[in-house]
Amino acid sequence: MANEQASVSLHFSDGTPDAELPIYRGTCGPDVIDISQLYKKTGKFTFDPGFVATASCRSNITYIDGQAGKLLYRGYPIEQLADRCNYLEVCYLLLYGELPNEREKRDFEYLVTHHTMVNDQLQYFLHEFRRDAHPMAIILGLVGAMSAFYPKSCNVLDPAQRNMAAVQMIAKMPTLVAMAYKHSVSDPVIYPRNELTYSENFLHMMFATPCERYPVNPVLARAIDRIFILHADHEQNASTSTVRLCASSGTSPFAAIAAGISCLWGPRHGGANEAALRMLMDILDRGGEAHIGEFISKVKDHSSGIRLMGFGHRVYKSYDPRAKIMRETCHDVLEELGLKNDPLFKVALKLEEIALSDEYFVSRNLYPNVDFYSGIVQKAIGIPVSLFTAVFAMARMVGWFAQMNEMIEDPAQRIGRPRQLYTGAAEREVLPIEERQ
Ligand code: CMC
Repeated sequence: MANEQASVSLHFSDGTPDAELPIYRGTCGPDVIDISQLYKKTGKFTFDPGFVATASCRSNITYIDGQAGKLLYRGYPIEQLADRCNYLEVCYLLLYGELPNEREKRDFEYLVTHHTMVNDQLQYFLHEFRRDAHPMAIILGLVGAMSAFYPKSCNVLDPAQRNMAAVQMIAKMPTLVAMAYKHSVSDPVIYPRNELTYSENFLHMMFATPCERYPVNPVLARAIDRIFILHADHEQNASTSTVRLCASSGTSPFAAIAAGISCLWGPRHGGANEAALRMLMDILDRGGEAHIGEFISKVKDHSSGIRLMGFGHRVYKSYDPRAKIMRETCHDVLEELGLKNDPLFKVALKLEEIALSDEYFVSRNLYPNVDFYSGIVQKAIGIPVSLFTAVFAMARMVGWFAQMNEMIEDPAQRIGRPRQLYTGAAEREVLPIEERQ
């Protein structure tokens, strides 16, 4: 719980009365100035486009130290979680606050496993989409429709319904993502199998067919499980803030999650893994390693509007700790699949090497982020590029629910409603049409 540590006195040069505002200290991270009474005391708002210096809530879930390159879920370092836990243990931790013991782990895995099938009617809905639709467009539609199929989990204010919605979405998301993929390649949908783990099941639903089993390679199942763990939560990022804001109106949890998925789709957020891979393929098409110099020059020229996708982060100003783990996993997967000499992966490694030593990137603290490597891993596993962001959404489902729960349970919670600095026309009169210029 945050403690009041000190206060700040505001003195204005325009005759506004002075104001004293409390300062709170969290467990770690910068102190925050509580401005909630500022407007009442001074008649002024604060201005912070992009929320660069604004804490939008109190949270006990995830902590990022961007300078030190540290990421903690409920206090546990991401490296230890990625090494010692599976994704469903991490889901339990994020949702309920503690790692499960053996019995809790078994029960939770059972619960999730027994909710992986989706209402069969959803297949009719799926089949109405164009085969060439972007999978994120399909996933958005399917998740948005969940309120229609699971009306008993729609009351966001009821903790039991919210918990059931979380279990349903964590369990069903791999099924929905695999369904969207199968639709795009005109293959029959593959049903989940209860004897498989969460990650094995996803690969099975993606790559098995009714005629052929898909023997799951444990190295690939572990790699996909790690992708899920690394993407499970990331404090108040754009999609999570969207989910919180949306759910603050009291809407259905499924609707709030669909809003988060919409936000995640953008190339500056979850869409970056797809954009990073497309960038690598483009470099390869234009000459591979020989084209990297020209590409980097374009990135450094702001007028080109080109960014090195998979590099840079709003919070991490040193190496993204998730990228370090993903880099190792990437090497394991390439080794396992005999792809170390694949031209696409060679371009990626060369690009990374050059960017890490180039003054432009070094001076701006631009390091690879998790998306740079997760795209390579997914491509190697055989996941189509257009599905990468859907995989990210699958992994982030638990973070969105943990954050939504925390927001709803906070006694100070009110509907989110930012204010603005209005710079439009002052009040004026509507002229008859013949007098308008
Ligand atoms: N390539 C080239 N230049 C960059 C890049 C990049 N990827 N990222 C930032 N810059 C430059 C930017 O042009 C600016 O330069 P200057 O100071 O000369 O104007 C400076 O670095 C600061 O950039 P910014 O846009 O003010 O930083 P931001 O905190 O608003 O943006 C970011 C963060 C992630 C949107 C941005 O780094 C970016 O667009 N990266 C590429 C997309 C990407 O990989 N996104 C995935 C983020 S991780 C997954 C997730 O959490 O969603």
